[in-house]
Amino acid sequence: MRHYSLVLALALAGAAHAAADPHSYAETDKFIVRHVALDLGTDFESRRLEGTVELTVEQVDPNAETLSLDTRDLEIGTVHLIETSGHAKVLAFKLAEPDPILGSKLTIDFPHCCAATSQMRIRIGYRTSNEASALQWLAPSQTYGARPYLYSQGQAIHTRSWIPLQDTPSVRVTYEARIRTPPDLVAVMSAARVGDDRAVSGEHRFAMKQPIPSYLIALAVGDLRFQAIGDRTGVWTEPSRLAAAAYEFADLPRMLEAGEKMAGPYRWDRYDLLVMPRAFAFGGMENPRLSFISPSTVAGDRSLVSVIVHELAHSWSGNLVTNSTWDDFWLNEGFTSYLEHRLVESLYGERRASMEDAIAYAELVQTIKDLEIDGHAGDSALQLQLAGRNPDEGISDVAYQKGRWFLGFLEERFGRPAFDAFLRQYFGAHAFQSIDTTTFRTWLLEYLKRPGAPAVTAVEIDEWIYRPGLPATMPKVAKGVFAPVDRIAADWRAGRIATDALPVKDWIPQEWVRFLDEQPSGLEDAKLAELRSAYKLGADGNAEIALSWLELVIRTGYEPAYPDLERFLLNTGRWRLVETLFRELSRTESGRVLGEGIYAKAKPGYHASIRQAVERLLYPEADAPKPQ
Ligand code: BES
Ligand code: ZN
Repeated sequence: MRHYSLVLALALAGAAHAAADPHSYAETDKFIVRHVALDLGTDFESRRLEGTVELTVEQVDPNAETLSLDTRDLEIGTVHLIETSGHAKVLAFKLAEPDPILGSKLTIDFPHCCAATSQMRIRIGYRTSNEASALQWLAPSQTYGARPYLYSQGQAIHTRSWIPLQDTPSVRVTYEARIRTPPDLVAVMSAARVGDDRAVSGEHRFAMKQPIPSYLIALAVGDLRFQAIGDRTGVWTEPSRLAAAAYEFADLPRMLEAGEKMAGPYRWDRYDLLVMPRAFAFGGMENPRLSFISPSTVAGDRSLVSVIVHELAHSWSGNLVTNSTWDDFWLNEGFTSYLEHRLVESLYGERRASMEDAIAYAELVQTIKDLEIDGHAGDSALQLQLAGRNPDEGISDVAYQKGRWFLGFLEERFGRPAFDAFLRQYFGAHAFQSIDTTTFRTWLLEYLKRPGAPAVTAVEIDEWIYRPGLPATMPKVAKGVFAPVDRIAADWRAGRIATDALPVKDWIPQEWVRFLDEQPSGLEDAKLAELRSAYKLGADGNAEIALSWLELVIRTGYEPAYPDLERFLLNTGRWRLVETLFRELSRTESGRVLGEGIYAKAKPGYHASIRQAVERLLYPEADAPKPQ
């Protein structure tokens, strides 16, 4: 309790002035970047982007003489001030030694004579490293076709590895871009397309008119085609996957309408999906106007569309109202997971929504336990303390599911209609702003003073925000929806139901997941063998069922299925799938050894952030040897 009061006192002390982002060198009290204009060529041979960025910079402090930007592994060639006459004046700059987490601070000198207006244009000529952490360059063999592929992933602090800028979510920019590609490839961005692509082959222009945080600037280049699904929505992907993707996501127009009904007007004009190659690091990434989506969601039966609903929901929570530092990540993901749940409920019914809730809740409880065991109990508070650490370490079920249940708790107190009104006002009041947890807390407490608002105390709120674990006011999570499956699982284990008599015809994938997740580590090999052959459990098919099956394979040490485990891990680069399985492997020494062997083969296909995450699991001691 004493510890708690101290944490609370510190948190409240920070409330007086918005804390600076610990993951950026930006000095936003001196200058703020308002607009980014990119002009980049894509070199698939050398795996580099090369060109210029022009930053429109506003001087906040008239005495400021240096502009600090974030970079990582960039080669900076030139820096110019573009004067109103159009004349380019050379500016001196210094690139500092890299920090392993933050990258290199780029400091640009500003002679006072030159700052004629409060807005200046700075042009930087540069090229990226062939190992830029935001960029994944895929060989044709890693795609669904015969052409190479490139995509960027900005969140959390990777944009600085392909654009020198103020890489903090507390700063919002508009942007425009000219991207030059090989003539037969198509570029897409998290922006509106400008002009006709066919006008100049290999040249693609874009504009994003709404101010967004830097982590949402996104680019993909490949053999891409588009199919409309309704007026405002559609899907981009490689030609051989287009029909399957358009079928899977046929509900897009309905989803968008449901989102607007819940959270207020959609402010980004279009909502399209880009279905990625298998190596894509995420289930989905909410790049504005164009979510990037893992192909593992294309299950054939529309059963995994909650990922789409989730990324769409970020159009409000995350993209419209943004966490201002990565310590406030739950503001993005907790609100989004709550909206996801509500949208799944309204689109696919209460049964499916409560199944997904029950599965996610079980995962949250496990995550909180794991964090305790690993000595990171503090990371199960909603407000994180990531200074000095890699912000990727803050990605856990806590932000998503504890955040979701904090809002579930508030919904319980408000009642649904009043809470829906609260949500719409929250989005309206903070639209196109970046806010931190303290700002949210203050706004919530103010809101609770309105006549008719429910009784919620600051102590109750602070227990959710600042204390680890689950608070006393955690709502009851209904798991009765799985009672029939749980009964069948028990009967099957006891031999009262034969393996080939399981009523799987009536099961949706979520019920399969529950059935598998509930099996104990002592389950006999004979039973596992029967399951495997009767239902073709392995590396293919529905990715969520395969994940739960392979977790069970590891938990029980069922060796005959190890080749499937390896194939699965070689065939996907999706963070959650990869990390879940390597975490399960790392729980025993024999699992860890098996994991090491698989990782050595799978590593080249994984995104740099995922390699780090896997290595943290396989080699928990920082100084342990790492394979080359
Ligand atoms: N924004 C996240 C992905 C992310 C988080 C990227 C942190 C980098 C750093 C995205 O919205 C997300 O949460 N994706 C999930 C799927 C979702 C349905 C929970 C994923 O990738 O699994
Ligand atoms: Zn998300």
